[in-house]
Amino acid sequence: MSTRDVELKRGLKDVYLDRTQASFIDGGEGKLLYRGYNIHDLAEKSTFEEVVYLLLYGSLPTQPQLDELDATLRASRAIPEEIYQIIEITKAGHPMDVLRTAVSALASFDPEVEDNSPEAVLRKGLRLTSQTATIICANHRIRQGKQPVAPSATLSHSANFLYMMRGEEPDDDEAKLMDVDFILHAEHGANASAFASRVTASTLADLHAAVVTGIGTLKGPLHGGAAESVMAMAEEIGDPAEAKAYAKRVLDGHGRIMGFGHRVYRAEDPRAQHLRERSKALGEKLGQPKWIQILDALVEAMAPYRAKGIHVNVDFFAGSIYQLMGIPEDMFIPIFALGRIPGWTLQVLEQYENNILIRPLLYYEGPMDLEYIPMEARS
Ligand code: CMC
Repeated sequence: MSTRDVELKRGLKDVYLDRTQASFIDGGEGKLLYRGYNIHDLAEKSTFEEVVYLLLYGSLPTQPQLDELDATLRASRAIPEEIYQIIEITKAGHPMDVLRTAVSALASFDPEVEDNSPEAVLRKGLRLTSQTATIICANHRIRQGKQPVAPSATLSHSANFLYMMRGEEPDDDEAKLMDVDFILHAEHGANASAFASRVTASTLADLHAAVVTGIGTLKGPLHGGAAESVMAMAEEIGDPAEAKAYAKRVLDGHGRIMGFGHRVYRAEDPRAQHLRERSKALGEKLGQPKWIQILDALVEAMAPYRAKGIHVNVDFFAGSIYQLMGIPEDMFIPIFALGRIPGWTLQVLEQYENNILIRPLLYYEGPMDLEYIPMEARS
């Protein structure tokens, strides 16, 4: 058989892997729906807790349903003492490595770890949503030599996250900003990390294993890692007037401008505009318009690429918001991971519901039928 006889789909570009009810993406239009609801409405009108309910249970919650989910999330924020010790031991690593290790270790403490029933997966997904926030913030504090901040039982998911991260309660604007960020990151089709989580689930491994897989996959700079790289790039540019020259240098060297381009979107990523507007407003409020000015100048410098379908993606403006909120760069990908736990959970549920082992083929191109050479005869 030759490559002429098989159709290679490198990178699985344009391949439909399965059916989903999680999200719909129209890459040409720049449209994103979660469970049928437009991301613009969800970003403007809902809360992260509502979106978690929508994704996991399939409809917008009534007030009592939302209250119950909220209470569950609040009650699930504590992590075992041993997880703090694991964070302490691994604190020199990248926060994504610490997160991956700590979430993996959480499996040993979850009484339902081996239970793949839909009810147990939903319960574990909610626990992981809450516990992941606590892990990320504990790591942030511990590596600074500070005491972790115990989770609050009264704050929303997003306000509690900022509270545990910085040690003081955020104002309503900041909490809302964080909430919108989590909403925008919650689910996004067959992206690399969700796909990887599905592969793990397709072997009937448990949710913790699938989420650990997702975290590992999200770290790379072509996926969630881009958020971290964008702000490093903005720092290197340093001044809006330098953006054009920077872009030319990178593109002439066949490099990539981080936070641009997407496998599915040929129009602007619909999530980006919310983050841009909010980053601009926060920068103005704090008297620090510099970052958004540099990023806007870079968007302008990349204008000729729009015709090729290369636009800003969700990662482009997110980092500037975190930066303005005093969160260090290497925490940006963990924040993306935290927002994405509901999406990974939902896709694992979908995979279990109608499971088929995900096991594609690789076309072999190496030598064939070589004669085994004994060690003493090898040169
Ligand atoms: N800067 C410059 N050129 C680009 C960029 C970019 N950011 N993205 C794509 N291109 C060019 C690429 O060089 C190629 O040109 P040509 O056809 O002349 O060789 C063309 O666009 C197609 O690119 P591709 O890499 O074949 O497309 P892909 O679908 O395989 O890659 C991507 C998608 C996201 C990996 C890529 O756009 C990229 O590397 N972007 C920068 C990293 C980034 O921002 N990642 C976050 C993605 S969105 C959020 C998430 O899921 O994490």
